[in-house]
Amino acid sequence: MNRGSEPTLLELSVPGRQAWSLQRNELPDRPIESCIPPEHLADHRPRLPEVSERDLVGHFTRLSHRQYSVDLGSYPLGSCTMKYNPKFADEVAALRGLADVHPAAPEQAIQGWLALVCDLEKALCSLVGMAGATFQPAAGAAGELTGLLMVRAFHAAGEARSRGGAAGGGAAGRGGGSGHASSGRTKVIIPDSAHGTNPASVTLAGYEAVTVPSDTRGCVDLAALREAIAGDVAAVMLTNPNTLGLFEEDIAEIARLAHNRGALLYYDGANLNAILGMVRPGDMGFDVVHLNLHKTFATPHGGGGPGSGPVLVSERLLDFLPGPRPALMGDGERYGWMVPERSIGRMHSWHGNALVVARALAYVLYNGSAGLRKVSNLAVLNANWIRKRLESSYQVPFDRPCMHEVVISAEKLKSDRGLSALDVAKRLLEEGFHAPTIYFPLIVREALMIEPTETESLQTLQALAEALERIASGTVERDAKPAPRTTPVGRVDEARAARRLEITG
Ligand SMILES: Cc1ncc(COP(=O)(O)O)c(C=O)c1O
Repeated sequence: MNRGSEPTLLELSVPGRQAWSLQRNELPDRPIESCIPPEHLADHRPRLPEVSERDLVGHFTRLSHRQYSVDLGSYPLGSCTMKYNPKFADEVAALRGLADVHPAAPEQAIQGWLALVCDLEKALCSLVGMAGATFQPAAGAAGELTGLLMVRAFHAAGEARSRGGAAGGGAAGRGGGSGHASSGRTKVIIPDSAHGTNPASVTLAGYEAVTVPSDTRGCVDLAALREAIAGDVAAVMLTNPNTLGLFEEDIAEIARLAHNRGALLYYDGANLNAILGMVRPGDMGFDVVHLNLHKTFATPHGGGGPGSGPVLVSERLLDFLPGPRPALMGDGERYGWMVPERSIGRMHSWHGNALVVARALAYVLYNGSAGLRKVSNLAVLNANWIRKRLESSYQVPFDRPCMHEVVISAEKLKSDRGLSALDVAKRLLEEGFHAPTIYFPLIVREALMIEPTETESLQTLQALAEALERIASGTVERDAKPAPRTTPVGRVDEARAARRLEITG
């Protein structure tokens, strides 16, 4: 692997150098043994880099210059909504009155913060047609787990009610297995195009994931769903538009089937960028929704966070939301914290990633409802422009208008010229673009999933399409060394890189 010339901080380390200084205080020095019991003390010093501030800043600045980011250019990574995030959201999040507040501050000192969270809750609820929300989950996947634990607590409470008992939320919702065992609902249905986090969250919540196939139009196969849905199903979990970028046109019928069987409908809202202000999951029949604020609402996805995956619920699930949650108190004049009666408990230390919430409110207020609708209109328009433009050089497996992203295939390129989806993606890096998502969704061979997003101009889309066409038409030269040849890191053996984290040369 080509590591380039940047040494690690440990390689830069020189004994005695430091990038910090602490003011001396009046307190007497105490030997460490008087603070920490000797049996808990390590017998050797940790190997930490000793570098000056100059070395430290230089190191990270050089690394940042080797990085590709949403600020640098187009990042059409399907399913990730890597759009440009406007800088005013950074300014809002950096306001001292927000950034410097400790999460344990007494509620009378943080009335503004609590009002902000409640305002965003109201705005998002009206955007998706739900009744209340939690902002505790720190990512989409954490939102999925939270939502599914609420589904589980809901069914357990219903079962307890029908047996004449009182349902305890926390105990019913978490761990143990008694929650769904008593309700007899042990399964959650997901389509075969689902994002990988969906089956993982289903399993983590103690359910069995049952997969239904997609039909020839890329939507849920209704006949297969009818067969799968029975009294042991707790929920049907869908993304709409789905991960093929296609709108589930039978959603009303799917909701009817689920509800008739007593199951809930879970909306994975990671693709909300496609439908802002156009259609609401609540009106489609969904009961639980998670959103990725770190996609749609002015915080970048990827990069390790911080993220925010709020979960929004319909009236009948309000009681199960995690707590404590901010709310306007009974007097209508002051905000405070409340714990819903049958809450599933806490899902995050403190109150979630609060500054992502602040950024989202800034974005919502800045755009307003007309602006948000325009975001989705443009995202859908851009994806369809790319779809039409590339249909002569790649295969488009589902030949119908898409929503915010389009899945194309390099299957023919591979069989004709040996150029796989991976090769196309790596060559695109040499053309100065981030690669699309590849080999996902799993049901399309040699899949390339392109999500141009609304923030890219026609000129950028044209340049992206031209680069992809150049790659497909073979005018990019092949040589012995595989692409990418112009990036700080060349092609790595990804399976090995994931399993052997140490670089041996
Ligand atoms: C459709 C879908 N669902 C769920 C997730 C999971 O979100 P997160 O990465 O924040 O956990 C993603 C992430 O991209 C997604 O695209």
